[in-house]
Amino acid sequence: MERTDGAQEGRRQQGLDEVSMPVSLKGKRVLVTGGTSGLGKAMVAQLLEKGAIVHAFGFRGPAPDFDPAAFTLIRCNQADLHQVRQTVAKLSESGEPFDILINNAGILSPPHFTKTVDGFELSYQINFLSHVLLTRLLLGNKLLAPECIINVSSPIYTMGRLDLSKIFDPGRYGLFQTYADTKLFMALFSEKLAQEGHESFSFNPGIFSSGIYRQQKKWFHRMYHLAGPFMTAPCKVVRGLIRVIENQSWESGHFINRKGKVGRMKQFDESLKKTFWERVGDQLSPFLDIAAKS
Ligand SMILES: NC(=O)c1ccc[n+]([C@@H]2O[C@H](COP(=O)([O-])OP(=O)(O)OC[C@H]3O[C@@H](n4cnc5c(N)ncnc54)[C@H](OP(=O)(O)O)[C@@H]3O)[C@@H](O)[C@H]2O)c1
Repeated sequence: MERTDGAQEGRRQQGLDEVSMPVSLKGKRVLVTGGTSGLGKAMVAQLLEKGAIVHAFGFRGPAPDFDPAAFTLIRCNQADLHQVRQTVAKLSESGEPFDILINNAGILSPPHFTKTVDGFELSYQINFLSHVLLTRLLLGNKLLAPECIINVSSPIYTMGRLDLSKIFDPGRYGLFQTYADTKLFMALFSEKLAQEGHESFSFNPGIFSSGIYRQQKKWFHRMYHLAGPFMTAPCKVVRGLIRVIENQSWESGHFINRKGKVGRMKQFDESLKKTFWERVGDQLSPFLDIAAKS
């Protein structure tokens, strides 16, 4: 997707109406994680309406009833990094690259500290680490000729801490804090990809109604059901995202909200970020070679 102009700075803080020359999504190959529910399912529906060819990851949710000519559901548990690697290995058999990757799957961190089979905190792995692995494997195996890599974050990302020692300490675990950390990491991932020369942005969907509370306690379910009718519907959130993609109105490395406004990334010390990414690299190094280990 060629950018229609280089005036990124001029687009900052502008509404979508001011951006011209939308590009068509017809025939674009899009991979969406978490495509079985909530925001991801709404993304798949609207991308299909636009004529895109959509592959979606899902784990336990029922298969959405979309036209199989344009939609493929791929079962993959992102809480298991070997499965992510095996899934990419299978995708590499077809060899057809994706144009757009939307890293959307996510959970609200569970009430209690929970570890995956890989030894990482559950929401850290599902929301963030598995997406970094997926993206790296797709890029490394030429399965992504990316026009854009979109990482779904959250307004709560501003509360995130750039400190992995805290996220892995069960004694200091808190569900909202850990969730905020994972969403900050997703935002930092967009920034990192942009620094590496890829087009990537973080999407801030705001708060909307979905099944994200599933793993929470009963009181949380009750509260969510009360608030649900007042929350934005996922399809409305996705309409904003689709406009951003069609109008190419993102600014690489930054945050875009559902109204298409560009927001600057929260700033951190460069050495802190370097240490963080080195640690993430160490965590993923056993999983990065699909040819040798799948
Ligand atoms: N809801 C909000 O207000 C809100 C606000 C800000 C940001 N977000 C973000 O929006 C994104 C979508 O969330 P949502 O609200 O639409 O929640 P949702 O309805 O619960 O959908 C979450 C998706 O993630 C997938 N997923 C969960 N665990 C997985 C696993 N182990 N392996 C593979 N896929 C897994 C689910 O797949 P299965 O159902 O098939 O297991 C589902 O498709 C998340 O990144 C969330 O953090 C949500």
